Amino acid sequence: MSGYLDLFTPLDGRPGWLARGAVWLPDQPGSLAWLAGLFGEAGANIIHFHHNRSEHPNRVLLEAWVPTPEMGRRLREELGRGGALDDGRWPATPPLVVTDADSILRLEVGLEHVPGSLARLAALLRDHQANVIFFSYHEDVSPQSVQISLFTGRAGEIDRLLRDLNQRGYHYTIRYRGASQREVDDVIGLNLVERFYFQIRRLLGSDDAESLRRMVESSRSMSEALVRFSQEAGRHLEAGEVYTRVLAFASGSQAHTGPRFSYRRLPSLTFDDLSFHAFRLPSGGNVFVLEAPDELVMVDSPFGVYHRDVTAMLEACGLPPAKLRRLYVTHTDADHAGMAGSLEDEFGTRVFLHHRAGEVLQRENRAWGGATTLLDLNHHFTVLVNGFTRFRAPARWEPLGQPETAPGGPLPVIDRFQVGGRTFHVLESNGGHTTGGVFYLGIDTGLLFTGDYLLWLPSLNQEERDFLSLPRFMMTSTNADSGLFREETQALTTLALALDRRLAGTGGEVRIVPGHGDYYPARQLGRG
Ligand SMILES: [Fe+2]
Ligand SMILES: [Fe+2]
Repeated sequence: MSGYLDLFTPLDGRPGWLARGAVWLPDQPGSLAWLAGLFGEAGANIIHFHHNRSEHPNRVLLEAWVPTPEMGRRLREELGRGGALDDGRWPATPPLVVTDADSILRLEVGLEHVPGSLARLAALLRDHQANVIFFSYHEDVSPQSVQISLFTGRAGEIDRLLRDLNQRGYHYTIRYRGASQREVDDVIGLNLVERFYFQIRRLLGSDDAESLRRMVESSRSMSEALVRFSQEAGRHLEAGEVYTRVLAFASGSQAHTGPRFSYRRLPSLTFDDLSFHAFRLPSGGNVFVLEAPDELVMVDSPFGVYHRDVTAMLEACGLPPAKLRRLYVTHTDADHAGMAGSLEDEFGTRVFLHHRAGEVLQRENRAWGGATTLLDLNHHFTVLVNGFTRFRAPARWEPLGQPETAPGGPLPVIDRFQVGGRTFHVLESNGGHTTGGVFYLGIDTGLLFTGDYLLWLPSLNQEERDFLSLPRFMMTSTNADSGLFREETQALTTLALALDRRLAGTGGEVRIVPGHGDYYPARQLGRG
């Protein structure tokens, strides 16, 4: 829409002409002062003035009484000369400008309803380099006051601005000022991305502006990509909806730490010198510990936010984390590898990953090198989830398998290790869920660690299911290659049932040990 200023003859014989228009201004301090100044000099009395940067960073809607039609035409020419009737003229504003709540002020200012009074107020705001993000005046709504939101670039400028207003005799009421993080949501004029920034900052309790910016940037890119995909698929998706889900994920990953942490211990299993212990956490992945006489070995480590809680939990359960000599990770998603770096640092735990996992960690892209067309989305998702859940990547890790390993069958054995005299095979995933994934199969214990494959859904409660479904929304699918994921699921099922039949002869059985929910007998797969 290009700008305009139309003139109307009033029907009720009021003196003057009604000028009504939409104009476009640069999103910077002084813009409103220039506009209001033009109207003030023309002797025009503004009766409606509306700017909301969150609706459009450049648009102002206004109505004013002008003394003569000639004056109205001159105003229109001045606006044209100043570029205010040309909507494409001003450079796009970056989406994230306001990141300091202390620089924000929302207030209501009393105003005399005469020509030039808006211009005087706008000039005062300009003198303090205030960028007005919301300005609303309507004669019929409140003839004696104007609603304003603004931000300033310099520290302490808000104090000076308020002092100046006082000295010049303005009456005002402050509606929001800096201190409260929560009420910043009520400041009209902040755009969607800025609101999101403040919400994320509050959620994470973080002042690390750089990492916050990075997460906001990833969310924004993700939101744009998702909105585009939806359009192509003929669906409607609001950017706000994406931000809402990201916030839900962020708060879900923080909600149960510290005093709010709880866990559920599943029955342990014993195989001579080896015991298997399983713990379900409030969100994210399970914790599995293999206990041998001389060491503890962990399979998958949960979200980094649980580091303190999980080490305390293990200590309390007689599994001192200082004895954790090795950690085997199924894949580097944050809910399965999140604590790896912390365990390595604190207890010197050796970390084992599929040999391609390094690429995933380095690029922060869970699907790197895979066949997906959604590489960007997977990258943004990885950055966000790792940030929200305090992922700690291991600094040194040892590779499972070798790049030159020849493929053999759908789930090739690429490595082996022993714990408590029992052998585990490392089965390679081809990347259905993520790049660099493996499964661990205890060939004599029947324990099959499947990561995000073969979850037993009835064992998950609604909150867990909702939480697990959020990533699907953010990436369209949690699986880098859904077709491959289905094939691998089938291959794991076949393998588990075949081994189960074999172990049955010796009184053993295969148990599926997924990273979420309860472990369960492989026989249940046959019934599915
Ligand atoms: Fe995963
Ligand atoms: Fe998972």
